[in-house]
This record gives sequence, structure tokens and C-alpha cells, in this order.
Amino acid sequence: MDLTDAPILEYPGQFRLVRKIAEGGMATVYEAEQLGPVGFTKRTALKVIHPHYARREEFLQLFVDEAKLSANLVHGNVVQIYQLGEVNGRYFIAMEFIQGPTLRSIIDRHHELGAPIPPTLAAYVASRVCRALDFAHNFVDQRGRRLDIVHRDVSPGNVMATWDGHIKLADFGIAKARTSVDPAERRPMLMGKKHYMSPEQMLGLGVDARTDVFSVGVVLFEMLALTPLFTEDITELAIDEVAVHPIPSLPTLIPDLDPELEQILVLALEKDPARRPTAAAMGHALDEWCAAQNELGNPDRLQGHLQQLFPATYQPPSARPGEHTSFSALRNRSPIARAGSWWRRIFDRLAG
Ligand SMILES: Nc1ncnc2c1ncn2[C@@H]1O[C@H](COP(=O)(O)OP(=O)(O)OP(=O)(O)O)[C@@H](O)[C@H]1O
Ligand SMILES: [Mg+2]
Repeated sequence: MDLTDAPILEYPGQFRLVRKIAEGGMATVYEAEQLGPVGFTKRTALKVIHPHYARREEFLQLFVDEAKLSANLVHGNVVQIYQLGEVNGRYFIAMEFIQGPTLRSIIDRHHELGAPIPPTLAAYVASRVCRALDFAHNFVDQRGRRLDIVHRDVSPGNVMATWDGHIKLADFGIAKARTSVDPAERRPMLMGKKHYMSPEQMLGLGVDARTDVFSVGVVLFEMLALTPLFTEDITELAIDEVAVHPIPSLPTLIPDLDPELEQILVLALEKDPARRPTAAAMGHALDEWCAAQNELGNPDRLQGHLQQLFPATYQPPSARPGEHTSFSALRNRSPIARAGSWWRRIFDRLAG
């Protein structure tokens, strides 16, 4: 259908900024409410780009292009973009508001507690990131053309968990625009998150979907080791670390690393992109590995884990609006839950 002659419905839009969530180098993120008529509100996250970025022609072009590409990425493991807007020269992205911690804070909390992340939970998180990537890497537009979307910034800050245990990958394509502005980042200068880049990205070579698979490998490593794989801050040393030196022996850095999980990591971290699996193959291998451990890697398990990990900030599903996917009443009221406690009483009596 040719949409050029289709009627347009214009409306004035407004967002109420509820609170500032974070201020980063490139943007400020707010929790906001999109307002509509007759009291309509929808909770969103607003990412407002700092003016010094938005003034740069090449940044804006790439930023807008990438936002347009990612606008239709609708997938359960992707933070959905609702709108790209501009007010008085200030650009913003309205997106799905995620209630829950970033993977960065999950890893940090485990580090603080000195308690490892259960490997099957780490594998579950990485497998869901792989699903998001597989979907984006193979995404086709309405005419069936491949869009070759690459994330370029898969890192613990861009992986978010909802309190009910789902994993969402945020900020598709934004790194590409940012690199166009910051001359320091054009040469691969390393600042924190740059430690998740692939060798080809570090060397400033062309990248494709396979760069993201390397980054998931780095993120999975960090979940298992609770320490980053790459740490050099000086550019030349960091390039050597990622692109030249062999990957260190993983079992010496990750206690009790299962050999099959090690193999999945080793393949993702191959320096040669041609030797890496696709995101789909990596995700599938992680799922198979989880299944073979006889341990669940699923949202319910992550939900329970987050509840224990963040007792002060965890919000049970009943306490917050929005989509829910867990059985909120299972533990208290359902006949199955009651049957469960009945069995427990029986077992307790037999055991006692
Ligand atoms: N959709 C969202 N819903 C809720 N909180 C969000 C959302 N997007 C981002 N945030 C919060 O805002 C913080 C800052 O996000 P921002 O994307 O600016 O920085 P980052 O992810 O650390 O770096 P990057 O520039 O690579 O994306 C995140 O750590 C997260 O806590
Ligand atoms: Mg981000």
C-alpha cells in the first residue's frame, strides 16, 4: 500500500517528567508519563539527548536513522521504542519503562555479597540477550529487506531485568551515532563499557552482527567470574588485550566452570568473527546446556533470585502497574499451591 496519500491524524503530545533516573554522558533518562485526553497516562522512559550531541549534524543523522531502524523491533527481550521526538532542538526517545535492575547492578550486588551468580541463571540471561540479538540481526522491513541491525553496545548497563524475571536489551544502534560525534571514541578510546567491544570494533574495522556475539561472551564471562574480562584503560594496551593477546584460561578465572559452558564462551570469544556462532546458535547452546543441568533458567527463577538479592527495592507484581507474567497468587491461594503445602505436610509427617 502506498502510504504517501494516506490521511494524517495530528495530535499534540505531552510527557510529564516523574523523576530523573540517571544522567549519562550522552543523555539523561527520566521516568515519565505520556499524557493523553480524559486522564489517559502511560508510563514511559524518556531518554533526552544532551544538546551538545544533538547540535552535531552527523550525530543527528545517524541517531535518527538508527532510531527509525529500531522503531519496529517488537520482541519480548527488546526494550521497545515508542517514539522519537524533538522539542526546541532537544531530541528524545520515548521507550518502554523497565521496572527492575540493570545487569550492571545485579553483577555488582553479587560482587558485594561475594556470592556467585548461579551459572544456569547467567546462562538464562545470556540466552535471552541472544534472542533479542537474533531477532534484530535478522529483522526485515515491510518489503522483506534485511536491515542488518547491529547493537554495538551489548554491555551490562544495557541489559535490564524486570522484577518478574524477564530480560530486555536496550539502546539498539545508539553507539553508532555516539561514535560519530566523539572524536575520542572514533579512535577506540576505552571508557568502562568499551571493555565489551569485539576485536574488530576495537580496531575500528567494519562490524556486523558477529560483534554483538563477542560482546555477549564478554558479558557472560563477567556474570560467571564477577569480574570484567577486559580491564585496560589505555587505548593501545586495551587493543592488545582484546585483539592481540589470547583470551586467558577461563577455568582459572571462573571457579567450577563446566567444560561445556566453557566451550560456549570460548566460541563466542573467538577473535575471528567467522569462527563465532550466530546469536541464535549461541542462545540455543545455552538453553541446551541449562536443560542438561536439570536446573531451571526461566523468569520465575530469576524473579525469586531478584527478590532475595534486592530485598529493599524488589517490587512484587501486585505492587506495580503494568504487564505481569508470573503466577502472583500461586503461593497463597491456588488449589495447586494448597496441594503443594498438603504434600509438604505429608512429607514432613513421614519424615518426622
Ligand atoms: N527503558 C528504561 N526503563 C527504565 N530505566 C532505564 C531505561 N533505560 C535506561 N534506564 C536507566 O537509565 C540508566 C542510564 O541509561 P543510559 O542508557 O543513559 O546509560 P547506559 O546504558 O549506562 O549507557 P549507554 O549509553 O551505553 O546506553 C540505566 O542504567 C538504567 O538504570
Ligand atoms: Mg543504555
